[in-house]
Amino acid sequence: MPFSLTGKVVVITGAAGGIGSETARVCAGLGASLILADREDPLEIAGELRAAGASVQTCAFDVRDRKACEDFLQRVPRLDVIVANAGYCPWDDWNDPDWDDVFHETVDINALGVINLLRPGLDKMMQQRGGRMVLVSSVAGRMGGLRASPHYVIAKGGINALVKWLARKAAPYGITVNAVAPGATATNMVRDQVFDEQAIPLGRMASPREIALPIAFLCSDAASYICGTILDVNGGVYMN
Ligand SMILES: NC(=O)c1ccc[n+]([C@@H]2O[C@H](COP(=O)([O-])OP(=O)(O)OC[C@H]3O[C@@H](n4cnc5c(N)ncnc54)[C@H](O)[C@@H]3O)[C@@H](O)[C@H]2O)c1
Repeated sequence: MPFSLTGKVVVITGAAGGIGSETARVCAGLGASLILADREDPLEIAGELRAAGASVQTCAFDVRDRKACEDFLQRVPRLDVIVANAGYCPWDDWNDPDWDDVFHETVDINALGVINLLRPGLDKMMQQRGGRMVLVSSVAGRMGGLRASPHYVIAKGGINALVKWLARKAAPYGITVNAVAPGATATNMVRDQVFDEQAIPLGRMASPREIALPIAFLCSDAASYICGTILDVNGGVYMN
């Protein structure tokens, strides 16, 4: 069963959020052992999945904290997959007086936060001679998004470039690096936003499950020859 995750240890950041918790559900359903991380322990989703029989550990750290990310990965005895999903999307205007501070916060979480995790993750996977990294990017990094501000667009565009750089570096060790780039998805992140659904060829936003399933696919052996790809999951808003 190449789509199975049985026997795999999967780390998911931002696991308390909409896409992260749904990814945890899908991966648990495919047999993975989960390590779920967020700024605070994602206890709710962990409890739900444990009650359904899954093996789940939780961890709390801020992805902006380089040392916390390194300590976390040091403590993990083995890991097969990292899903770098934690993200932050402020909807402010770049004319706002405090915008520069928000710029740094947004880039720190969405870009540096991913590096903080994947740098020690790569070392660990290189020692193991294998693994999968799945980054959660955005359609905003592909074509500017539907409503996103430039700090988020820059950070996610950077992630798309990072995928290719890291995929080349990791591939000789049997490690694949890919991203899913979602379009507008019904989670807390977009709670107060109104999207023009007519601008989406499929005519609606994604459900978190419609993003989680492609993420889980990239985590699995079924994606063993996919390397350095950004998988667009956006209802047709951006067609590569
Ligand atoms: N919802 C969308 O429309 C959409 C579209 C494209 C991409 N994305 C991306 O999908 C990913 C998941 O977003 P979501 O829609 O589930 O949003 P969400 O707000 O429901 O979840 C984001 C999670 O990231 C965590 N997080 C934020 N900052 C953190 C930090 N500094 N350290 C640790 N954890 C932190 C939050 O606590 C939260 O649980 C993000 O990377 C986001 O940019 C979302």
